Amino acid sequence: MRRIAIAGNWKMYKTQVEAKEFLTNFLAELKSGSADNKLTLLFAPFTTLPVMLAATGAYGSYGLNIGAQNLHWADNGAFTGEISAPMLVELGIKYVIVGHSERRQFFGETNETVNQRLKAAQKHGITPILCVGESKQQRDRGETEAWIMTQLKQGLEGVDQQNLIIAYEPIWAIGTGETCEVAEANRVIGLIRSQLIDRNVTIQYGGSVKPENIDEIMSQSEIDGVLVGGASLDAKGFARIVNYQSL
Ligand code: PGA
Repeated sequence: MRRIAIAGNWKMYKTQVEAKEFLTNFLAELKSGSADNKLTLLFAPFTTLPVMLAATGAYGSYGLNIGAQNLHWADNGAFTGEISAPMLVELGIKYVIVGHSERRQFFGETNETVNQRLKAAQKHGITPILCVGESKQQRDRGETEAWIMTQLKQGLEGVDQQNLIIAYEPIWAIGTGETCEVAEANRVIGLIRSQLIDRNVTIQYGGSVKPENIDEIMSQSEIDGVLVGGASLDAKGFARIVNYQSL
């Protein structure tokens, strides 16, 4: 059975104090008794991870998992500014985002480094979310499918698909308020699934997901969840997304 995964990506937002305040408000809004196959995730800045983990431990029944936004492929070494898998494992982290388009665009991530990071996560028992997606120019030139196929082929080389989540995030829909048509997101995600060895991999949609469009997005046959940026910063709004009601 394909697992549902609703995830928030805070990016470089929230101090420890702000993170704690968010959790108090967010957990109060969560409906308990959520389905066994539903995973709720929050990818927070490194500095907030210890307080987030300490606070959510007490709310284990809500099944909220705290994840990191990146990791390095080496266990340790002279890599100033990076964080390794053993450092995350020590904290109790079980999920990590890899290859987000902002990492690819601003920090020089390539399909090769993304591949190395995915394998490092899995080696240490951390489940990675691999992000793929095309730019506006690529879409306009009709290169969406070829681009995503290359990202998958190179990114997933030697990667265990049984311990993996994929997020389809069209770059032009990230942080722009411009959501991809749900039918189109569903089509591309179906295409991604058709390329996988394990057809039961959870595949999310990401890009301007909000409380107003979550129910429609989650009604699509191929979409198993969402990766939410801006709208995950607001406790009430993100709780509404997690508590979605498929149309
Ligand atoms: P957004 O970001 O929801 O703010 O568009 C999505 C993402 O970057 O994962």
